[in-house]
Amino acid sequence: MSIQGKNILYTGAAGGLGLPATLHFLRAGATVLAVDHDAGKLAALSAAADGIRGGRLVTLQADLSDLEGFRMGLAEQAEALGGLDVVINNAAIYPSKPFQEYSIADHQAVQRVNVDAGIVAVQVALPTMRAQGWGRIINIASITFYGGWANLSPYVASKGALVGLTRAWAREFGAHGITVNALSPGAFPTDAEKIHPDPEGYTRFVLDHQSVKRRGDPADIAAALAFLASDAAGFISGQVLNVDGGWVMQ
Ligand SMILES: NC(=O)c1ccc[n+]([C@@H]2O[C@H](COP(=O)([O-])OP(=O)(O)OC[C@H]3O[C@@H](n4cnc5c(N)ncnc54)[C@H](O)[C@@H]3O)[C@@H](O)[C@H]2O)c1
Repeated sequence: MSIQGKNILYTGAAGGLGLPATLHFLRAGATVLAVDHDAGKLAALSAAADGIRGGRLVTLQADLSDLEGFRMGLAEQAEALGGLDVVINNAAIYPSKPFQEYSIADHQAVQRVNVDAGIVAVQVALPTMRAQGWGRIINIASITFYGGWANLSPYVASKGALVGLTRAWAREFGAHGITVNALSPGAFPTDAEKIHPDPEGYTRFVLDHQSVKRRGDPADIAAALAFLASDAAGFISGQVLNVDGGWVMQ
C-alpha cells in the first residue's frame, strides 16, 4: 500500500486535517505540493516537515478563490514536478448562518473555493494522469451532507457538488486508470470546533452518534487517504468513504 514517489497535490494542506496528513505522506516517501492561502500556517507546516526524511514538501501559497491565478500557479508547479499523480481536493470554507441571511454571492464564494478550485485542480492534473494511465482523485466531503447540521447551506451544497463530481469523474476517467473517490470525515476536534459554545456537550453529542467511542484523530483521515491514493485501492471508484467512527452507515 505504497504512495512512495507519488506527486500529491493537497489543497488546504496547512489546515487541521491537512497538516497531519501531509506529514504522513512525507514520511511515506511522497512529494506533496501543499497549497494554502495562509502564509503563517504554511510556514508552520514547513517547520513541522523539517527533518522528515524520504518525502519532499513543496508549498504553494495561493488563494483558491482566484481560480485563474490558482490555475497558473498550479500548472507551473505541476510541470516542475513532472505532473501530479494524486489530487486531494480538501480546502474548504464553512460560514455558518441561517439560510435566509446568505446572499447568492455568499453561496458562490463557497462554491468557488470548495468546488470550482477542485475542478481547476483536476483540469491541470488530468493530462498527465491520462498519459500515464494512472491517477487518484480524492474529494473531501463531509458528514454534514447527510443532514444533522443547520445553518451551513452553502457548505453542505458544496459537499453535495463534490459527491456528484466524484461519481461523474469516476465514470468518465475510469478507462484511463484514474479512480475518483470522496472521503467524508465525521466530526474531528480541529480548530473549527473550538468556536462551539459548549465543547463538552458537543463531544457527548458526537460520541453518542459514533459507534466507536473515541474522538476521531487526524491520523484516521491520513491513513484512509493513503489507502485511497495507493495501488491497493485501484478497484474502488465513485465511492464515498465515511471516516466517522461508524456514525453514517450506508
Ligand atoms: N474537521 C472536521 O471535523 C471536518 C468534518 C467534516 C469535513 N471536513 C472537511 O475536511 C476538510 C479539511 O477540514 P479542516 O478541519 O482541516 O479545515 P481547516 O479550516 O483547518 O483547513 C482548511 C484549509 O483550507 C485553507 N483555505 C481556506 N480557504 C482557502 C482559499 N481560498 N485558498 C487557499 N486555501 C484556503 C485554510 O487556510 C485551511 O488551512 C474540509 O474539506 C472540510 O470541509 C472536516
